[in-house]
Amino acid sequence: LKAIPHDKTGRAITDRYAFAFDIDGVLIRGGRVIPEAIEAMKVLNGENELGMKVPYIFVTNGGGKTEEERCNDLSRQLELQVSPGQFICGHTPMREMAEKYNTVLVVGGVGEKCRQVAEGYGFKDVVTPGDIIKTNKDTTPFRKLTDEEWANSRVRDFNTLKIEAIFVFADSRDWAGDQQIILDLLMSKNGLIGTRSATFDEGPPVYFSHNDIVWSTAHDHTRIGMGALRASLEALYKAVTGKELTTIAFGKPQRGTFEFATRLLRQWREETHGINKALDTVYFVGDTPESDIRGTNEFNDHAASGSAEWFSILVKTGVFQEGTIPRFPPKKITANVLEAVKFGMQREL
Ligand code: G3P
Ligand code: MG
Repeated sequence: LKAIPHDKTGRAITDRYAFAFDIDGVLIRGGRVIPEAIEAMKVLNGENELGMKVPYIFVTNGGGKTEEERCNDLSRQLELQVSPGQFICGHTPMREMAEKYNTVLVVGGVGEKCRQVAEGYGFKDVVTPGDIIKTNKDTTPFRKLTDEEWANSRVRDFNTLKIEAIFVFADSRDWAGDQQIILDLLMSKNGLIGTRSATFDEGPPVYFSHNDIVWSTAHDHTRIGMGALRASLEALYKAVTGKELTTIAFGKPQRGTFEFATRLLRQWREETHGINKALDTVYFVGDTPESDIRGTNEFNDHAASGSAEWFSILVKTGVFQEGTIPRFPPKKITANVLEAVKFGMQREL
């Protein structure tokens, strides 16, 4: 135990390795905590044979709330304090785009939440589909705004307001209406909503906060998610214009997300635990081969020599199902997150 450093509170803590956790399908499913997750967190917080703490962060593709709000939910569900300093959601890296564009369309989520998230990131002028429908109700023949949406939506002069980029922050609650509005913008002259381009190649870029085709929720089988909307939008654009649409996705498995996670881990270990030694290993625990395992493996395979090993662990509590072959093979498969934590800690002994 002498070789183990101690954190600012005097508890033994490892400076050699850390964990990163996916959320849906690993810790939470359908809004409820996966029971082993509570125990797994206790083990990492020192309830283990060595009495040693292990640093960890959370990296989810989910979104639709501020990081602070999401951490409050997670703190309640996991029965411990989760800080925004150890948390990345799908749209977190989008904050770096706030400088680049002035007026943006933000799609997805409940009510005004995503507008608030975007404004919190520093986006200067945030338009929602509700604003466009309130300004011209004929935009979406089958979607009527609720009283609350009507009250919150803002009438704007879309004849002069140029939308420079489209951001899908969270899952759409109205695929038809949202796709109609995105399509109108993609086919417009320079992002002016009422116009039509002759060539359909002057519309704004579209960014998605992640690309998960399916995800794990309360239903026995996976449910379609944001990546499905992306596939649908690209197919719709092709069907209507005859052209290919290229959109951009953030989140896992993108390399940028794992670089962001690396920076977050460095800061978190230093600011909270007083550790500034480079990590040897990061155990990433996920349930989705296409995002969690693919991202971890590719990030690890392309890392510069001397950087931490990113070790992928796939659990069976979410998207991946026993008896199927994961498209991206993990380094280890465990039944659940508690087994993943025990495996990683055992490997480090
Ligand atoms: O919508 C969120 C979902 O696609 C995945 O979330 O936590 O499994 O990355 P997570
Ligand atoms: Mg997941």
